Amino acid sequence: MTPGEFGLGEENNMATSEGTAPGAILEAVGLTKAYGSGDRERTILADVNFALAEQEFVCVVGHSGTGKTTLLRCLTGLLSPTAGEVRFRGQRVSSPPEGLAIVFQDYSRSLLPWLSVEHNIGLPLEGKGISREDQAERIAHAVTAVGLSGHERKLPHELSGGMQQRVAIARALAYQPSVLVMDEPFASVDAQTRAELEDLTLQLRKEYRTSVLLVTHDVDEAVYLGDRVVVIGGAPARVVRVEETRLGRERDQIETKMLPRFAEVRAEILREIRDRSARTTPTELLRATLGGKGTDGTRERSAR
Ligand SMILES: Nc1ncnc2c1ncn2[C@@H]1O[C@H](COP(=O)(O)OP(=O)(O)O)[C@@H](O)[C@H]1O
Ligand SMILES: [Mg+2]
Repeated sequence: MTPGEFGLGEENNMATSEGTAPGAILEAVGLTKAYGSGDRERTILADVNFALAEQEFVCVVGHSGTGKTTLLRCLTGLLSPTAGEVRFRGQRVSSPPEGLAIVFQDYSRSLLPWLSVEHNIGLPLEGKGISREDQAERIAHAVTAVGLSGHERKLPHELSGGMQQRVAIARALAYQPSVLVMDEPFASVDAQTRAELEDLTLQLRKEYRTSVLLVTHDVDEAVYLGDRVVVIGGAPARVVRVEETRLGRERDQIETKMLPRFAEVRAEILREIRDRSARTTPTELLRATLGGKGTDGTRERSAR
């Protein structure tokens, strides 16, 4: 079984939807999400639309508090949208679909402290009808892929932060997802480890032929990793810009970041974010902070 074929059983409870973008594996269609109800209702995402194509690497970038995690939780079926829908392979998502794996920012809370590295990695494979041998093989392959050979029997607390995040990545890989979703996965490690984990993700994406959706507040990271960068902003947030990075498949922490194209895309996105912050009036900011139903949306609609 190839990674792309894994786990897309008939058993997931999704209903067929019309009008799916061609080649899209994961889609947000008019996705709107509000928290709370009545006077306390607060719309975080309003009419968010975008699609992740098969084997594509898309980075979603936006300020802290914009709604990136909310977006990912909706996209992965952990939260249900207030309006609009999420589609996985053209089918409406109503619970976390088979074939999708998530890596969260906080590895310390995503690993079980009493389980060894290999047991943590094997956890999502249990009860999936995968034979013991196949499980062991997947775990061993994922351990090697993330460079943790020799650490299989260790407990999470015996590892550095970067190594713990490698365990979390290996766990997602062992599941052989067709879509890997990552929420600020490198935000809790030092700069050097971060660069290593970024490159590891690029390498694994090639090896496992996975589609990746990665959320970050770091524009440089988004441009370095992504085939496309989706910028979300505003209150409530929507897609305000989409940039094709066109930096090729091979990336290098030094060479790629020296390319004029890298600087150009980075500048475009930073400008968009800065100008957008400058255009947000104090009233909008206050409304976004205190709650209330959305804004008049004029500024958002006039944006690209
Ligand atoms: N469960 C929740 N209930 C109410 N408000 C929430 C909840 N989760 C997040 N929020 C609010 O939604 C906004 C967006 O949060 P989040 O999606 O975590 O943003 P980001 O990941 O971009 O930092 C924040 O203002 C946050 O306080
Ligand atoms: Mg977040």
